Amino acid sequence: MPSVAVDIRHLSFRYDEEYVLEDITAQIYDREYIAIIGPNGGGKSTLLKLILGLLRPTKGEILIYGQPPEKKRTIIGYLPQNINFNLDIPLTAKTIILQGRLSRNKLFYDPQDYEALESVAHKLKISHLLHTKISHLSGGERQKVLLARALVTEPKLLVLDEPTASVDLGAQKEIYAILKELDMTKIVVSHDINIILEGVDRVFYINRKLFIHDNIELKITPREGHFCEMELFEELKRSCDA
Ligand SMILES: Nc1ncnc2c1ncn2[C@@H]1O[C@H](COP(=O)(O)OP(=O)(O)O)[C@@H](O)[C@H]1O
Ligand SMILES: [Mg+2]
Repeated sequence: MPSVAVDIRHLSFRYDEEYVLEDITAQIYDREYIAIIGPNGGGKSTLLKLILGLLRPTKGEILIYGQPPEKKRTIIGYLPQNINFNLDIPLTAKTIILQGRLSRNKLFYDPQDYEALESVAHKLKISHLLHTKISHLSGGERQKVLLARALVTEPKLLVLDEPTASVDLGAQKEIYAILKELDMTKIVVSHDINIILEGVDRVFYINRKLFIHDNIELKITPREGHFCEMELFEELKRSCDA
């Protein structure tokens, strides 16, 4: 039996009166690859922030490799939803990626940081972009730089919130191909149906409540090679309710 990476027990959460997440229980295992899908406002980003320890559960608890999330920050790589760069600030890709290595106790870089930078840039095939200003990168290149920033600490748990929103189809496919090969626990929120066909172990559908779908052989036929997201939701809900 693999060890439990993320243990979510009877978790409920609300920002104000209304619950955004209600009685969620799930275990994510070490090295498992989880896709989280669901409608806008369903609570996906909120769940990720709870896993990261950026928010505290209203009820229930979350443990990351057996400990509270705030004690495990250093083993988690995170890419938040919709990072809006101030494109006037002349930061290079290299600077952005290296920021992933900084922390409250560490304000300067050492040789290991540069080694980690080279290694992750090589893995994501962005070595040639390191000295390019972030404002000069395409959407897909920028997302790869942010993914590199999440990976440069060599995390045990990678948490990505819509990493391919607003990138072109080619870059989407490339990013999912990279993710598939990464050997760590992965939790990825995505609207792209492609991810579900790219090596994901289980799909979590979240709309205030959680529906786990662990048999991802879908019975719907892609229409002109393209899944309609609503059809997928319907299909997942049906098989979860069954
Ligand atoms: N900081 C916040 N304060 C109050 N309500 C919030 C806050 N962030 C999100 N919400 C609300 O919580 C619900 C879930 O949001 P979110 O987790 O962002 O959903 P998703 O990522 O699935 O689109 C939504 O109704 C949203 O409006
Ligand atoms: Mg979200």
